[in-house]
Amino acid sequence: MLKKVAILANGGDVAGFNAVIRGIVKTAENNGVDVYGFIDGYNGLLKNNYVSLSTAEDGRAEGILHKGGSIIGSSTNANVFNYKVVNENGEVEYKDLSDVCVQNIKDDKFDCIFTLGGDGTQKSARDFATKGVNVIGVPKTIDNDVACTEITFGYNTAVSVAMEALDRLHTTGETHHRIMVLEVMGRYAGWIALEAAIAGGADVALIPEIPYDINRVAEKIRNRQKRGKNFSVVVVAEGAKPKDGEIVVKNKRENGEGVDNNKLGGIGEVVAKELEEITGLEARNTTLGYMQRGGTPTAYDRVLSTKYGTKAMQLALEGKFGRLTVIKNGRLDDVSLEDVVGNNTKIGAVSGNTKESNIRKVTLDHDLVKTARSIGINLGD
Ligand code: F6P
Repeated sequence: MLKKVAILANGGDVAGFNAVIRGIVKTAENNGVDVYGFIDGYNGLLKNNYVSLSTAEDGRAEGILHKGGSIIGSSTNANVFNYKVVNENGEVEYKDLSDVCVQNIKDDKFDCIFTLGGDGTQKSARDFATKGVNVIGVPKTIDNDVACTEITFGYNTAVSVAMEALDRLHTTGETHHRIMVLEVMGRYAGWIALEAAIAGGADVALIPEIPYDINRVAEKIRNRQKRGKNFSVVVVAEGAKPKDGEIVVKNKRENGEGVDNNKLGGIGEVVAKELEEITGLEARNTTLGYMQRGGTPTAYDRVLSTKYGTKAMQLALEGKFGRLTVIKNGRLDDVSLEDVVGNNTKIGAVSGNTKESNIRKVTLDHDLVKTARSIGINLGD
């Protein structure tokens, strides 16, 4: 009998975190299960720092459906299988502290832990499952790159924000006859850039999956000029890179150790400068950044997050652990965390874009790629 469960939200925040939490809590309350929330993701699990979550009046999970962020925080650098500690000599060490977490779960008798997060978070969830912990994952990330699901929560809101930015860049670009570049998030997958480009009527979309040739992009812009269009709108994913070139890393946090610690950013400026030089048109870059993650979720994300939250709790009630809630062929479903992790079998080795990692990238035969090409969006190739 399920009595006591806990939620943790891990990784970069997205709109919809709270809607998932609410879905879990409401379903739990209807089934007489108590819910707690670990504060700041896996950090809270390690420190055994948690709060009670309820939708009763004045309960922490009351009135949160529309709220951005996460009422229980989140952490972007908390891999408890490879955790940063400072030893007595003041030196930084990385240690596997996962057994401390397992003991905390046992001591406080949690029957299930819900892990809301992206591929790194679900990798750790799978690693906890191999240690005998009952876990259920819910796929989150604005990048939409978690394996085995067609959509993650938070993605739709990010695309909507990017689309609105494109609408605004369009009018200022047209007025001043400029090339307007918009750098959006998307470390290893170009879903946001591609979908926002289609939704926002952009002329070019550069994504990590298709290394670009800047001359092809310039050619597209020149062709527009020939037709009397003296402005263009270009979307660039932060992880896009030129053919024979590298992604632009803004900085390496903690010397690149721990989780995935390369902070990306800057490719938009590079693309704008190069296009200005080649075409002779003025170019300006806008980096959308955290606007894509903060704030209120779209209706789509509220519904998706609620579906995911209720499904996660249902799975727990059925005793189906080690699963990830997913959307498969448009329907709510669940898959084994083993499938999500794929070949990334080594416990604790969490890193994005390694050959072992199982990230869902844009494929060249995807409908979005075909659609973009059909309407003349240049993909840099
Ligand atoms: O993984 C989601 C994401 O939004 C990436 O697109 C981006 O590179 C990253 O988060 C930035 O997160 P932070 O600066 O919070 O570590």
